[in-house]
Amino acid sequence: MTDLLSLLRAPSANRVYAAQAGPLALAEARWVLGAHHGPSLAVRPEEVAGIEHLRISSRDPEERIGPQSTLPALAAQLSSAFAAFAPVDLEGEELLRPARLPDVHHHASALETTLRYPGKTNEQFTALLLNLAAALSDRRAGILDGSLAVLDPICGRGTTLSRALRLGLSPVGADIDSADVDAYRAFLLTWAKQGRLKHSSRASRLTVSRRQLGTRFELELAKDKAAQRAGRAQRLTLLGCDTTELGSVLPSGSVDAIVADLPYGVQHGARSEARWSRSPLDLLGAAAPVWRSLLRAGGGMALAVNRHTAPFASARAVLAEHGFTVLSRDGEFRHRVDQSIDRDVILAVRSDHPRMAALQELADSISSSPLEPAASRPGDPSPTTTAASAPSAPLAAAPDERTPDV
Ligand SMILES: C[S@@+](CC[C@H](N)C(=O)[O-])C[C@H]1O[C@@H](n2cnc3c(N)ncnc32)[C@H](O)[C@@H]1O
Repeated sequence: MTDLLSLLRAPSANRVYAAQAGPLALAEARWVLGAHHGPSLAVRPEEVAGIEHLRISSRDPEERIGPQSTLPALAAQLSSAFAAFAPVDLEGEELLRPARLPDVHHHASALETTLRYPGKTNEQFTALLLNLAAALSDRRAGILDGSLAVLDPICGRGTTLSRALRLGLSPVGADIDSADVDAYRAFLLTWAKQGRLKHSSRASRLTVSRRQLGTRFELELAKDKAAQRAGRAQRLTLLGCDTTELGSVLPSGSVDAIVADLPYGVQHGARSEARWSRSPLDLLGAAAPVWRSLLRAGGGMALAVNRHTAPFASARAVLAEHGFTVLSRDGEFRHRVDQSIDRDVILAVRSDHPRMAALQELADSISSSPLEPAASRPGDPSPTTTAASAPSAPLAAAPDERTPDV
Protein backbone atom coordinates (compact mmCIF):
# COMPACT_ATOMS: atom_id res chain seq x y z
CA MET A 1 0.00 0.00 0.00
CA THR A 2 1.23 3.51 -0.84
CA ASP A 3 -0.37 6.19 1.30
CA LEU A 4 -1.27 9.16 -0.87
CA LEU A 5 -3.37 11.59 1.16
CA SER A 6 -4.95 12.01 4.54
CA LEU A 7 -8.11 14.14 4.45
CA LEU A 8 -9.56 16.10 7.33
CA ARG A 9 -13.33 16.59 7.40
CA ALA A 10 -14.89 20.05 7.70
CA PRO A 11 -16.12 20.52 11.27
CA SER A 12 -19.46 21.79 9.92
CA ALA A 13 -20.28 18.27 8.70
CA ASN A 14 -20.11 17.02 12.27
CA ARG A 15 -22.44 19.74 13.43
CA VAL A 16 -25.14 18.87 10.90
CA TYR A 17 -24.99 15.09 10.89
CA ALA A 18 -23.42 14.41 14.26
CA ALA A 19 -22.15 10.85 14.56
CA GLN A 20 -23.17 9.98 10.98
CA ALA A 21 -20.87 12.58 9.41
CA GLY A 22 -17.88 10.18 9.44
CA PRO A 23 -19.60 7.18 7.81
CA LEU A 24 -21.25 9.48 5.22
CA ALA A 25 -17.92 11.05 4.23
CA LEU A 26 -16.27 7.63 4.09
CA ALA A 27 -19.00 6.13 1.89
CA GLU A 28 -18.91 9.15 -0.45
CA ALA A 29 -15.11 9.00 -0.79
CA ARG A 30 -15.16 5.26 -1.48
CA TRP A 31 -17.80 5.57 -4.21
CA VAL A 32 -16.31 8.65 -5.82
CA LEU A 33 -12.62 7.74 -5.71
CA GLY A 34 -13.35 4.07 -6.41
CA ALA A 35 -15.41 4.94 -9.50
CA HIS A 36 -12.83 7.37 -10.85
CA HIS A 37 -9.64 5.51 -9.93
CA GLY A 38 -10.68 1.85 -9.89
CA PRO A 39 -10.04 -0.89 -7.35
CA SER A 40 -6.39 0.04 -6.79
CA LEU A 41 -7.47 2.96 -4.60
CA ALA A 42 -8.50 2.32 -1.00
CA VAL A 43 -10.07 4.70 1.51
CA ARG A 44 -10.12 3.94 5.20
CA PRO A 45 -10.90 5.90 8.33
CA GLU A 46 -8.03 6.74 10.63
CA GLU A 47 -7.60 8.70 13.78
CA VAL A 48 -4.84 11.32 13.96
CA ALA A 49 -4.27 12.85 17.36
CA GLY A 50 -7.87 12.05 18.30
CA ILE A 51 -9.36 13.52 15.11
CA GLU A 52 -10.87 11.41 12.37
CA HIS A 53 -9.28 11.57 8.94
CA LEU A 54 -9.78 9.63 5.72
CA ARG A 55 -6.64 7.88 4.55
CA ILE A 56 -6.40 7.42 0.77
CA SER A 57 -3.92 4.78 -0.35
CA SER A 58 -3.06 2.89 -3.47
CA ARG A 59 -2.56 -0.85 -3.69
CA ASP A 60 0.00 -0.10 -6.39
CA PRO A 61 3.35 0.38 -4.60
CA GLU A 62 4.59 2.58 -7.46
CA GLU A 63 1.66 5.01 -7.44
CA ARG A 64 2.40 8.68 -6.79
CA ILE A 65 0.23 11.76 -7.22
CA GLY A 66 1.63 13.12 -10.47
CA PRO A 67 0.73 16.39 -12.18
CA GLN A 68 -1.91 14.64 -14.31
CA SER A 69 -3.62 12.90 -11.39
CA THR A 70 -7.27 13.77 -10.86
CA LEU A 71 -7.09 12.65 -7.23
CA PRO A 72 -6.41 16.11 -5.68
CA ALA A 73 -9.31 17.73 -7.60
CA LEU A 74 -11.68 14.89 -6.71
CA ALA A 75 -10.62 15.05 -3.07
CA ALA A 76 -11.20 18.82 -3.09
CA GLN A 77 -14.72 18.29 -4.43
CA LEU A 78 -15.73 15.81 -1.72
CA SER A 79 -18.60 17.33 0.21
CA SER A 80 -16.82 17.45 3.55
CA ALA A 81 -13.24 18.08 2.38
CA PHE A 82 -11.54 20.61 4.61
CA ALA A 83 -7.79 20.06 4.52
CA ALA A 84 -5.41 17.49 3.11
CA PHE A 85 -2.08 16.16 4.28
CA ALA A 86 0.55 14.13 2.50
CA PRO A 87 2.10 11.34 4.57
CA VAL A 88 5.88 11.71 4.70
CA ASP A 89 8.33 9.23 6.13
CA LEU A 90 10.88 10.85 8.41
CA GLU A 91 13.40 8.31 9.62
CA GLY A 92 10.76 5.67 10.16
CA GLU A 93 8.23 8.01 11.69
CA GLU A 94 5.26 9.14 9.66
CA LEU A 95 4.56 12.84 9.55
CA LEU A 96 1.64 14.55 7.85
CA ARG A 97 2.62 17.53 5.75
CA PRO A 98 -0.14 20.00 4.78
CA ALA A 99 -0.95 19.53 1.09
CA ARG A 100 -2.64 22.19 -1.01
CA LEU A 101 -5.76 20.98 -2.81
CA PRO A 102 -6.69 22.69 -6.08
CA ASP A 103 -9.45 25.27 -5.98
CA VAL A 104 -12.22 23.51 -7.85
CA HIS A 105 -14.79 26.25 -7.44
CA HIS A 106 -15.64 28.66 -10.24
CA HIS A 107 -17.70 30.94 -7.99
CA ALA A 108 -17.57 31.99 -4.34
CA SER A 109 -19.47 30.03 -1.69
CA ALA A 110 -22.16 32.74 -1.39
CA LEU A 111 -23.82 31.15 -4.42
CA GLU A 112 -24.65 28.09 -2.33
CA THR A 113 -25.10 29.62 1.08
CA THR A 114 -26.98 32.91 0.63
CA LEU A 115 -30.50 31.59 0.01
CA ARG A 116 -32.05 30.24 3.21
CA TYR A 117 -35.57 28.86 3.47
CA PRO A 118 -37.43 26.08 5.24
CA GLY A 119 -37.04 22.85 3.30
CA LYS A 120 -33.74 23.82 1.65
CA THR A 121 -31.58 20.77 1.11
CA ASN A 122 -28.38 21.20 3.08
CA GLU A 123 -25.70 22.29 0.64
CA GLN A 124 -23.03 19.94 1.92
CA PHE A 125 -25.41 17.02 1.52
CA THR A 126 -26.31 18.28 -1.96
CA ALA A 127 -22.61 18.26 -2.91
CA LEU A 128 -22.45 14.64 -1.76
CA LEU A 129 -25.46 13.70 -3.92
CA LEU A 130 -23.98 15.40 -6.98
CA ASN A 131 -20.58 13.73 -6.51
CA LEU A 132 -22.22 10.33 -6.18
CA ALA A 133 -24.49 10.69 -9.21
CA ALA A 134 -21.52 11.90 -11.27
CA ALA A 135 -19.34 9.00 -10.09
CA LEU A 136 -21.86 6.49 -11.48
CA SER A 137 -21.77 8.09 -14.90
CA ASP A 138 -19.45 6.81 -17.59
CA ARG A 139 -18.83 10.51 -18.34
CA ARG A 140 -17.80 11.12 -14.72
CA ALA A 141 -14.65 13.05 -15.73
CA GLY A 142 -17.06 15.75 -16.90
CA ILE A 143 -17.48 16.89 -13.29
CA LEU A 144 -13.87 18.12 -13.50
CA ASP A 145 -13.97 19.75 -16.92
CA GLY A 146 -17.46 21.30 -16.82
CA SER A 147 -19.03 18.99 -19.41
CA LEU A 148 -21.16 16.76 -17.15
CA ALA A 149 -24.88 17.27 -17.94
CA VAL A 150 -26.70 17.49 -14.59
CA LEU A 151 -30.46 17.55 -14.03
CA ASP A 152 -32.30 18.14 -10.79
CA PRO A 153 -35.87 17.31 -11.86
CA ILE A 154 -37.41 18.60 -8.59
CA CYS A 155 -34.97 21.39 -7.90
CA GLY A 156 -36.86 23.62 -5.41
CA ARG A 157 -34.88 26.82 -5.07
CA GLY A 158 -31.90 25.38 -6.83
CA THR A 159 -29.45 24.02 -4.24
CA THR A 160 -28.21 21.36 -6.69
CA LEU A 161 -28.08 23.85 -9.55
CA SER A 162 -26.02 26.29 -7.51
CA ARG A 163 -23.60 23.52 -6.52
CA ALA A 164 -23.28 22.51 -10.17
CA LEU A 165 -22.69 26.12 -11.22
CA ARG A 166 -19.98 26.46 -8.59
CA LEU A 167 -18.23 23.46 -10.12
CA GLY A 168 -18.34 25.10 -13.54
CA LEU A 169 -21.18 22.94 -14.91
CA SER A 170 -24.25 23.98 -16.93
CA PRO A 171 -27.18 22.38 -15.08
CA VAL A 172 -30.89 22.03 -15.79
CA GLY A 173 -33.55 22.10 -13.08
CA ALA A 174 -37.31 21.86 -12.89
CA ASP A 175 -39.87 22.35 -10.17
CA ILE A 176 -43.64 22.47 -10.10
CA ASP A 177 -43.73 25.16 -7.42
CA SER A 178 -43.74 28.49 -9.24
CA ALA A 179 -42.91 30.36 -6.02
CA ASP A 180 -39.67 28.35 -5.71
CA VAL A 181 -38.77 28.81 -9.35
CA ASP A 182 -39.46 32.56 -9.21
CA ALA A 183 -37.45 32.99 -6.01
CA TYR A 184 -34.47 31.14 -7.45
CA ARG A 185 -34.59 33.08 -10.70
CA ALA A 186 -34.67 36.39 -8.82
CA PHE A 187 -31.78 35.28 -6.61
CA LEU A 188 -29.64 34.24 -9.60
CA LEU A 189 -30.13 37.56 -11.35
CA THR A 190 -29.20 39.52 -8.23
CA TRP A 191 -26.21 37.27 -7.62
CA ALA A 192 -24.95 37.66 -11.21
CA LYS A 193 -25.44 41.43 -11.11
CA GLN A 194 -23.82 41.93 -7.73
CA GLY A 195 -20.90 39.71 -8.69
CA ARG A 196 -20.50 41.71 -11.95
CA LEU A 197 -20.57 38.51 -13.96
CA LYS A 198 -21.01 38.80 -17.70
CA HIS A 199 -24.48 37.40 -18.15
CA SER A 200 -27.60 37.40 -20.24
CA SER A 201 -30.97 35.84 -19.48
CA ARG A 202 -34.23 35.00 -21.10
CA ALA A 203 -37.58 34.19 -19.50
CA SER A 204 -40.42 32.74 -21.54
CA ARG A 205 -43.43 30.53 -21.37
CA LEU A 206 -42.81 26.82 -21.65
CA THR A 207 -45.07 25.63 -24.42
CA VAL A 208 -44.90 22.26 -26.12
CA SER A 209 -47.24 21.38 -28.99
CA ARG A 210 -49.42 24.33 -28.01
CA ARG A 211 -49.72 23.01 -24.48
CA GLN A 212 -48.60 25.50 -21.94
CA LEU A 213 -46.57 23.57 -19.38
CA GLY A 214 -45.16 26.40 -17.31
CA THR A 215 -42.14 28.69 -17.52
CA ARG A 216 -38.61 28.58 -18.86
CA PHE A 217 -35.67 30.67 -17.71
CA GLU A 218 -32.20 30.55 -19.26
CA LEU A 219 -29.15 32.21 -17.86
CA GLU A 220 -25.82 32.36 -19.63
CA LEU A 221 -22.89 33.59 -17.61
CA ALA A 222 -19.15 33.90 -17.68
CA LYS A 223 -16.74 35.02 -15.00
CA ASP A 224 -15.40 37.78 -17.24
CA LYS A 225 -15.15 38.89 -20.86
CA ALA A 226 -12.11 36.70 -21.52
CA ALA A 227 -14.00 33.60 -20.37
CA GLN A 228 -16.97 34.62 -22.49
CA ARG A 229 -14.80 35.10 -25.60
CA ALA A 230 -12.99 31.80 -25.01
CA GLY A 231 -16.36 30.01 -25.02
CA ARG A 232 -16.13 29.19 -21.32
CA ALA A 233 -19.63 30.43 -20.61
CA GLN A 234 -21.95 28.43 -18.37
CA ARG A 235 -25.65 27.97 -18.98
CA LEU A 236 -28.43 27.30 -16.54
CA THR A 237 -31.90 26.22 -17.54
CA LEU A 238 -34.71 26.51 -15.00
CA LEU A 239 -38.10 25.05 -15.88
CA GLY A 240 -41.23 25.76 -13.93
CA CYS A 241 -43.25 22.63 -14.67
CA ASP A 242 -44.30 19.21 -13.46
CA THR A 243 -41.33 16.83 -13.55
CA THR A 244 -43.49 14.21 -15.29
CA GLU A 245 -43.69 16.57 -18.30
CA LEU A 246 -39.94 16.77 -18.77
CA GLY A 247 -39.94 14.02 -21.39
CA SER A 248 -41.54 16.40 -23.85
CA VAL A 249 -39.23 19.31 -22.95
CA LEU A 250 -35.71 17.83 -22.82
CA PRO A 251 -34.05 15.51 -25.36
CA SER A 252 -34.07 11.86 -24.34
CA GLY A 253 -30.71 10.43 -23.28
CA SER A 254 -29.28 13.93 -22.74
CA VAL A 255 -28.47 13.75 -19.02
CA ASP A 256 -25.34 12.30 -17.39
CA ALA A 257 -26.37 12.72 -13.76
CA ILE A 258 -29.75 13.10 -12.05
CA VAL A 259 -29.70 14.49 -8.53
CA ALA A 260 -32.92 14.81 -6.58
CA ASP A 261 -34.03 15.29 -3.02
CA LEU A 262 -37.50 13.73 -3.03
CA PRO A 263 -40.30 15.45 -1.12
CA TYR A 264 -40.15 14.33 2.49
CA GLY A 265 -43.87 13.98 2.97
CA VAL A 266 -43.65 16.37 5.93
CA GLN A 267 -44.43 20.01 6.46
CA HIS A 268 -41.53 22.51 6.43
CA GLY A 269 -42.76 25.41 8.54
CA ALA A 270 -45.55 27.09 6.62
CA ARG A 271 -44.60 25.33 3.35
CA SER A 272 -46.84 22.46 2.59
CA GLU A 273 -45.98 19.73 0.12
CA ALA A 274 -49.65 18.72 0.26
CA ARG A 275 -50.37 21.09 -2.59
CA TRP A 276 -48.62 18.67 -4.93
CA SER A 277 -50.74 15.91 -3.40
CA ARG A 278 -48.61 12.94 -4.48
CA SER A 279 -46.86 10.92 -1.80
CA PRO A 280 -43.08 10.69 -2.34
CA LEU A 281 -43.43 7.11 -3.60
CA ASP A 282 -46.28 7.99 -5.96
CA LEU A 283 -44.22 10.88 -7.31
CA LEU A 284 -41.26 8.53 -7.80
CA GLY A 285 -43.49 6.03 -9.62
CA ALA A 286 -44.84 8.73 -11.94
CA ALA A 287 -41.46 10.39 -12.54
CA ALA A 288 -39.15 7.34 -12.82
CA PRO A 289 -40.05 6.43 -16.43
CA VAL A 290 -39.49 10.04 -17.50
CA TRP A 291 -36.21 10.36 -15.62
CA ARG A 292 -35.05 7.05 -17.13
CA SER A 293 -35.76 8.27 -20.63
CA LEU A 294 -33.78 11.48 -20.02
CA LEU A 295 -30.77 9.69 -18.52
CA ARG A 296 -28.11 8.39 -20.88
CA ALA A 297 -27.64 4.62 -20.68
CA GLY A 298 -24.32 5.26 -18.94
CA GLY A 299 -25.70 7.94 -16.60
CA GLY A 300 -26.02 7.91 -12.81
CA MET A 301 -28.70 8.96 -10.36
CA ALA A 302 -28.57 9.88 -6.65
CA LEU A 303 -31.88 10.32 -4.83
CA ALA A 304 -32.35 11.40 -1.24
CA VAL A 305 -35.35 9.77 0.44
CA ASN A 306 -37.04 10.07 3.79
CA ARG A 307 -37.21 6.51 5.05
CA HIS A 308 -40.36 7.30 7.07
CA THR A 309 -42.39 8.11 3.95
CA ALA A 310 -40.38 6.35 1.23
CA PRO A 311 -38.79 3.24 2.76
CA PHE A 312 -35.63 2.19 0.92
CA ALA A 313 -37.00 -1.21 -0.15
CA SER A 314 -40.21 0.34 -1.53
CA ALA A 315 -38.31 3.03 -3.44
CA ARG A 316 -35.95 0.37 -4.82
CA ALA A 317 -38.94 -1.72 -5.97
CA VAL A 318 -40.49 1.29 -7.74
CA LEU A 319 -37.20 2.03 -9.48
CA ALA A 320 -36.69 -1.61 -10.50
CA GLU A 321 -40.16 -1.61 -12.04
CA HIS A 322 -39.04 1.25 -14.28
CA GLY A 323 -35.74 -0.21 -15.47
CA PHE A 324 -33.30 1.04 -12.82
CA THR A 325 -30.85 -1.01 -10.78
CA VAL A 326 -30.13 0.26 -7.26
CA LEU A 327 -26.48 -0.03 -6.26
CA SER A 328 -26.35 1.45 -2.76
CA ARG A 329 -27.31 -0.65 0.25
CA ASP A 330 -30.34 0.00 2.44
CA GLY A 331 -28.97 2.21 5.25
CA GLU A 332 -25.57 2.85 3.65
CA PHE A 333 -26.05 6.64 3.75
CA ARG A 334 -28.67 6.67 6.49
CA HIS A 335 -28.62 9.74 8.73
CA ARG A 336 -31.11 11.38 10.97
CA VAL A 337 -32.07 14.92 10.02
CA ASP A 338 -34.75 15.46 12.67
CA GLN A 339 -37.65 13.66 14.28
CA SER A 340 -39.62 13.38 11.05
CA ILE A 341 -36.79 12.86 8.55
CA ASP A 342 -34.64 9.73 8.60
CA ARG A 343 -32.74 10.16 5.36
CA ASP A 344 -30.94 7.75 3.06
CA VAL A 345 -29.46 7.92 -0.43
CA ILE A 346 -30.44 5.68 -3.29
CA LEU A 347 -27.77 5.30 -5.95
CA ALA A 348 -29.25 3.93 -9.15
CA VAL A 349 -28.33 3.46 -12.78
CA ARG A 350 -30.28 2.29 -15.77
CA SER A 351 -30.29 -1.51 -15.85
CA ASP A 352 -28.55 -1.34 -19.25
CA HIS A 353 -25.63 0.75 -17.91
CA PRO A 354 -22.55 -0.33 -19.91
CA ARG A 355 -20.33 -0.43 -16.79
CA MET A 356 -22.79 -2.36 -14.64
CA ALA A 357 -20.33 -5.16 -13.75
CA ALA A 358 -17.64 -2.69 -12.60
CA LEU A 359 -20.18 -0.68 -10.58
CA GLN A 360 -21.57 -3.84 -8.92
CA GLU A 361 -18.01 -4.85 -8.06
CA LEU A 362 -17.39 -1.43 -6.53
CA ALA A 363 -20.63 -1.68 -4.54
CA ASP A 364 -19.58 -5.12 -3.23
CA SER A 365 -16.09 -3.96 -2.30
CA ILE A 366 -17.51 -0.95 -0.44
CA SER A 367 -19.98 -3.05 1.51
CA SER A 368 -17.20 -5.37 2.65
CA SER A 369 -14.80 -2.55 3.67
CA PRO A 370 -14.41 -1.63 7.34
CA LEU A 371 -16.22 1.45 8.70
CA GLU A 372 -14.12 1.92 11.82
CA PRO A 373 -10.47 2.98 12.08
CA ALA A 374 -8.27 -0.05 12.64
CA ALA A 375 -7.27 -0.23 16.31
CA SER A 376 -3.67 0.88 16.56
CA ARG A 377 -1.33 -1.95 17.35
CA PRO A 378 0.94 -1.68 20.35
CA GLY A 379 4.32 -0.44 19.22
CA ASP A 380 2.95 1.26 16.09
CA PRO A 381 4.33 4.73 15.71
CA SER A 382 1.37 7.07 15.99
CA PRO A 383 1.16 9.51 13.10
CA THR A 384 2.11 13.02 14.04
CA THR A 385 0.65 16.03 12.33
CA THR A 386 2.86 18.97 11.52
CA ALA A 387 -0.13 21.25 10.99
CA ALA A 388 -1.64 23.31 13.75
CA SER A 389 -4.32 21.18 15.37
CA ALA A 390 -7.63 21.37 13.64
CA PRO A 391 -10.55 22.91 15.46
CA SER A 392 -12.20 20.26 17.56
CA ALA A 393 -15.44 18.86 16.22
CA PRO A 394 -18.51 20.49 17.71
CA LEU A 395 -20.80 18.23 19.64
CA ALA A 396 -23.80 16.73 17.93
CA ALA A 397 -26.74 19.03 17.33
CA ALA A 398 -29.45 18.77 19.94
CA PRO A 399 -31.64 15.82 18.91
CA ASP A 400 -34.63 17.74 17.62
CA GLU A 401 -33.10 21.06 16.81
CA ARG A 402 -34.77 22.07 13.52
CA THR A 403 -32.19 23.69 11.31
CA PRO A 404 -33.60 25.91 8.55
CA ASP A 405 -32.30 23.50 5.93
CA VAL A 406 -32.55 19.72 5.86
C1 LIG B 1 -37.27 18.22 -0.83
S1 LIG B 1 -37.77 19.43 -1.98
C2 LIG B 1 -36.32 19.79 -2.92
C3 LIG B 1 -35.59 20.92 -2.29
C4 LIG B 1 -34.47 21.42 -3.15
N1 LIG B 1 -33.40 20.44 -3.28
C5 LIG B 1 -33.94 22.71 -2.54
O1 LIG B 1 -32.88 22.69 -1.86
O2 LIG B 1 -34.59 23.74 -2.67
C6 LIG B 1 -38.75 18.56 -3.13
C7 LIG B 1 -39.25 19.41 -4.26
O3 LIG B 1 -40.06 18.60 -5.12
C8 LIG B 1 -40.93 19.47 -5.79
N2 LIG B 1 -41.98 18.68 -6.45
C9 LIG B 1 -42.92 17.90 -5.88
N3 LIG B 1 -43.70 17.34 -6.83
C10 LIG B 1 -43.22 17.76 -8.03
C11 LIG B 1 -43.58 17.53 -9.38
N4 LIG B 1 -44.61 16.74 -9.69
N5 LIG B 1 -42.87 18.13 -10.35
C12 LIG B 1 -41.82 18.96 -10.05
N6 LIG B 1 -41.45 19.23 -8.79
C13 LIG B 1 -42.12 18.62 -7.79
C14 LIG B 1 -41.43 20.37 -4.67
O4 LIG B 1 -42.01 21.56 -5.16
C15 LIG B 1 -40.15 20.58 -3.86
O5 LIG B 1 -39.52 21.78 -4.25
